[in-house]
Amino acid sequence: MKLYKANIIFTREKDRFEVVEHGYVGVENGRVVGVASSSDAFDREVEEVIDYGDCLLIPAMNDLHVHAAQYRNQGVAMDLKLMEWLKTYTFPEEAKYSDTHYAERMYSRFVRDLWRFGTMRAAVFASVHLESTRVLMNLFREAGMGAFVGKVNMDQNAIDALYETVEDAVANNEALIAEWSDPDSLVRPIITPRFVPSCSSAMLRSCGELAKRYQLPVQSHLSENHNEIAWVRKLEPESRFYGDAYDRYGLFGQTPTIMAHCVYSADEELDLMERRDIMVAHCPTSNLNLSTDISPIRSFLNRGLKVGLGSDISGGHDLSIMRMMAYAIQVSKLWYNRDRRRQFLTLSEAFWLATKSGGSFFGRVGSFEPGYEFDALVIDDSTFNHDNYSLLNRLERFIYMGDDRHIAVRFCRGREIPEPRILD
Ligand code: GUN
Ligand code: FE
Repeated sequence: MKLYKANIIFTREKDRFEVVEHGYVGVENGRVVGVASSSDAFDREVEEVIDYGDCLLIPAMNDLHVHAAQYRNQGVAMDLKLMEWLKTYTFPEEAKYSDTHYAERMYSRFVRDLWRFGTMRAAVFASVHLESTRVLMNLFREAGMGAFVGKVNMDQNAIDALYETVEDAVANNEALIAEWSDPDSLVRPIITPRFVPSCSSAMLRSCGELAKRYQLPVQSHLSENHNEIAWVRKLEPESRFYGDAYDRYGLFGQTPTIMAHCVYSADEELDLMERRDIMVAHCPTSNLNLSTDISPIRSFLNRGLKVGLGSDISGGHDLSIMRMMAYAIQVSKLWYNRDRRRQFLTLSEAFWLATKSGGSFFGRVGSFEPGYEFDALVIDDSTFNHDNYSLLNRLERFIYMGDDRHIAVRFCRGREIPEPRILD
């Protein structure tokens, strides 16, 4: 067993932090043995003690919704609405991923930058292209970082360059599934119908069949924008609500499922999501940029819905899940001004969303409780003036003011992760 010594902060419950000043985390075979304030508390042989001095040691970040094939568009076209943004900027950019050399250049930067911001696990949309998706999965494997990677499936309402026949989509998904079948792999496939408007009924049905046949998770978008919702009503008239359209094809919690946004989900939709244990990917920056409304995250938590945070690059403009915590608190305060019965998020709740709650989609990830995979960040905030600040004040200052320069060391599944390489 190795012992890591630092100021340890994590959340077991959403309502409070666990803090151990100058404490120890014991790690064996990539998993946490326990946390203690003394090295004598462990009854196992200690191989090595690694002392990070006055640094903070926290669980690593989890990004529940991000588009790797939109990375080059980060920060571009933020003055458009969803449909115009997709047509004008996003679809043409994703079409470039028919070129695997382009994919290597962009995806290697994407993986390196997730690393920079301490995101050790992500649920990722690639593009429709099989070869480029394989490139992305291999880059994650090489980096030693965890990801569910989805080859995107779509056959309508976009541009010709992004269409596949249903037969090709099934065959291409099955090729990846066969290559990435090890359930213990840090990198795994996830079934990814882009969203209802870009998939024919036959495509949605095939996606649902793939998820069921191979017992794979599912990710998509849900109730992000008013026009989108009205469009789904037309496209799938038999569905009672947007989520019901996924449900009818076996894409709504029949296997573990992430639905991004849910800004306008009504009670009926949220009730079904709760029953099906669906994870909401809350993407505050994307909502501000594209759907131009606020997601009622407090209502999600009060209902007991599972929620994690997503950067949604490039609908969102910021890859940092630390900053996503700050945005989540800020937009929840705007909501509080609308409805004062709904409390805004606390710091511990936002931290729990980014770590333990979001991490649960990847297994026992996001906490330092015994048995959890050791995904962790060492935070060196010594360049901030933090005289007389408590450890929690220091954590808050890092979340609001810090960036990748303050992350000294990153661990995923117990292994220290070096900077991934860039390809040109
Ligand atoms: N809905 C369909 N495709 C997309 C996408 O790429 N990003 C976002 N934010 N919403 C979508
Ligand atoms: Fe998205």
